Amino acid sequence: MKNLIKIKSIIKPFNKKIEVSGDKSISIRCVLLASQAIGKSKIFNLLESEDVLNSLKSISNLGIQYKKINNCYEIYGLGINGYNLAKKVTINAGNSGTLARLILGLLVNSNKEIKIIGDRSLSKRDFSRVTDPLKIFGAIINSNKNSLPLKIKGSEFLRPIKYIEKLGSAQCKSCVMFAAIKTSGKTIIKAKKSRNHTEIIFRNLKIPIKVVNHKEYDLIEVDGPANFNGFKYKVPGDISSSAFFVVLALLSKKSKIIIRNVNVNNSRTGIIKILNKMNAKIRLKNKKIYKGEHVADIIVKSKNNLKSIDCPKNLNSSAIDEFLVIFLVAAKAKGISIFRNLSELNKKESPRLDIATNILNKIGIKYIRKGDNLKIYGNPKLNLKGNYIIKNFRKDHRVFMMSCIAALTFGGSWKIEDSDSINTSFPIFLKTLKKLGAKIS
Ligand code: S3P
Repeated sequence: MKNLIKIKSIIKPFNKKIEVSGDKSISIRCVLLASQAIGKSKIFNLLESEDVLNSLKSISNLGIQYKKINNCYEIYGLGINGYNLAKKVTINAGNSGTLARLILGLLVNSNKEIKIIGDRSLSKRDFSRVTDPLKIFGAIINSNKNSLPLKIKGSEFLRPIKYIEKLGSAQCKSCVMFAAIKTSGKTIIKAKKSRNHTEIIFRNLKIPIKVVNHKEYDLIEVDGPANFNGFKYKVPGDISSSAFFVVLALLSKKSKIIIRNVNVNNSRTGIIKILNKMNAKIRLKNKKIYKGEHVADIIVKSKNNLKSIDCPKNLNSSAIDEFLVIFLVAAKAKGISIFRNLSELNKKESPRLDIATNILNKIGIKYIRKGDNLKIYGNPKLNLKGNYIIKNFRKDHRVFMMSCIAALTFGGSWKIEDSDSINTSFPIFLKTLKKLGAKIS
């Protein structure tokens, strides 16, 4: 068994302040945009995880230099036509859907064929959601049944497009926005709501963008080609990494945690809204705005009277990466929780809806799943005594972290494989748990 960890006891009460690593979505966007800016960008507190390091390697393969000086990555961009595409290049996106899908947008004007590859998990994911719009711009793309490996050759004669993004995928929306900065004319996207970091950073970089927010969707217009200058950015903490500690504190006994300096952009805080509807009483303090992004400290205390939720599906997109731990809270809440329209969960690094329900099954939580709707029958007295082995989850970092939180709050003796999966997004996860007193061997 590879990279096995064992957890045999729940965590003792704790009262601590922590910081989590930099936001992954913002880190990848910063690296890719800095690589296309004119001149030097300085990125502080960049997440140093495999997905982001693969982003740095990818821009380096495209001829962009960078170096790390203390806590700052300096990236020397050469403008929107600055990639060296003289030779055939292969880009290895590793496990990262965000890197693979966003960088494709920036390759829409490449004059050489570029190959994109990824690990086993990424190679099973659908790329038609980004290659379809890129083909309308004028790129030529050959793929292995809409997944990786794929080859892209761009065009000199790009056309701006009108695109309807129906999935609520920020990766898809951002890919089209990235292609739009290379394309002469107005690209218009009608996008189902999803995280809006790309829109915010475009505005910051003075890339011509107009956004009109409607209840169910956003209308986004990007006027290209758009050159922009190098920039400075200090990446705030990642709410998706914080989520595991939010739920750890909530489900533990007599504990409190303050997670400092976390990005709490409204398009990412679904977990807080959902858990507060379940009576979690999570608070935000020291709120500030940094370059258009909302940042705050998250304060969570243990709660033993959590109640079930009929989860409004308009919160799905802003909690899309957090459902695994939200299900743990539902498992311990009083009553039957209902979640709907979760099909996108099965399109992630692993089929998360399938895997999460398997784990609920293993620990004796009753649920009913009909297609992509899920009912979880909570048990406030849940107190596990058995042995649990978690494996074969396609090294999905979030499944690994969910299992650790279940082990540390529900009890029982757990063996969890593939601990190296956390390197994708949150390499200091286990170290941070141990700081709070978790016993992990
Ligand atoms: C991301 C968007 C989401 C999310 C992923 C990061 C991004 O994916 O699950 O972890 O940075 O744009 P989708 O766009 O597929 O919803």
